[in-house]
Amino acid sequence: MIELKGLTKVYGKGGSAATALSGVNLNIEKGEIFGVIGHSGAGKSTLIRCINLLERPTKGEVWVDGTELTRLGKSQLQEHRRKIGMIFQHFNLLSSATVYDNIAFPLRLTHTPKAAVDRKVNELLALVGLTEHRGKYPAQLSGGQKQRVGIARALASDPDVLLCDEATSALDPQTTDSILRLLLDINKQFNLTIVLITHEMLVIQSICDRVAVIHGGGIVEQGRVTDVFLKPKHEVTKEFIRSEAQDDSPLLAALHAPHPTGATAVKITFLGEKTYESTLSRVAGGTGVNFAILQGTISTIKDTPYGQLIVRFEGDAKAIGRTISELAAQGLDVEVLS
Ligand SMILES: Nc1ncnc2c1ncn2[C@@H]1O[C@H](COP(=O)(O)OP(=O)(O)O)[C@@H](O)[C@H]1O
Ligand SMILES: [Mg+2]
Repeated sequence: MIELKGLTKVYGKGGSAATALSGVNLNIEKGEIFGVIGHSGAGKSTLIRCINLLERPTKGEVWVDGTELTRLGKSQLQEHRRKIGMIFQHFNLLSSATVYDNIAFPLRLTHTPKAAVDRKVNELLALVGLTEHRGKYPAQLSGGQKQRVGIARALASDPDVLLCDEATSALDPQTTDSILRLLLDINKQFNLTIVLITHEMLVIQSICDRVAVIHGGGIVEQGRVTDVFLKPKHEVTKEFIRSEAQDDSPLLAALHAPHPTGATAVKITFLGEKTYESTLSRVAGGTGVNFAILQGTISTIKDTPYGQLIVRFEGDAKAIGRTISELAAQGLDVEVLS
């Protein structure tokens, strides 16, 4: 659906030139929610703005639905851009226009007949839950409501792709959650491809299918969210995940405390149905090894449940070894920590 090839963006020239993106390659499938996470200044906004050519890449190709956009003339580009909706961190609404008129704006730009505008806007108002607020001005709305207007406006021209530039970064956690659920709903209902950028791992974890981690203008890691989240490779990714996790200090104290008998600490990851099974107690019962749970999490990645336990196995080294290989044979991921 979207393919970025060797995307490079340099701002400015000569001594003041700054490279915001260098040789980015990305492939985004139709109907997926693709997240890009990175710190401030990593190049996220530049990347997403290159997808609809709000920003012209210095080098590289931007393929959307089989067309290479950088080669198009002005009017052809405008035509293709209509199929790419966008929402923003600070909503970018027209402050002097009502909710209704903000949503109608892109339709009026293309001279859509009045009755068709009315039908479409009413449909969108219902979709985002703002029918009651149609006559209000942006200043009379909460942040979440403003973003709902932004979403409705972006959907007015029936796009195939929705680009979200930090769309929930200005919202509180509860409102963030309701906007993310709306995006997920739209994605499912219209098979809309969504590209979202964020600096919050929780956003990625809630609704994305795949994720790319951007750092210093390059993609340092990408894959399915379940893989990247549970087995991060790059230090930047690990840092993002740690920032969402619970306080590690009690765990570290427990790991470093001396133990009278032999002990091995491991991190066990359960994914999907395995999260709710009693594999650990069954296996440990069989090998005669005792265990203490030092830390545990059960949560979901999009709609897949997962669990992560850090346990200390106590007893005979051989029996502990057998326990670990039996857990792995049962399809659990086991990482030895000490
Ligand atoms: N219009 C611009 N002119 C010059 N430098 C820019 C411009 N926009 C962004 N940059 C620089 O490019 C880098 C990436 O910026 P940006 O894509 O906005 O990152 P992010 O969205 O991840 O915070 C930063 O170093 C930023 O200062
Ligand atoms: Mg940005």
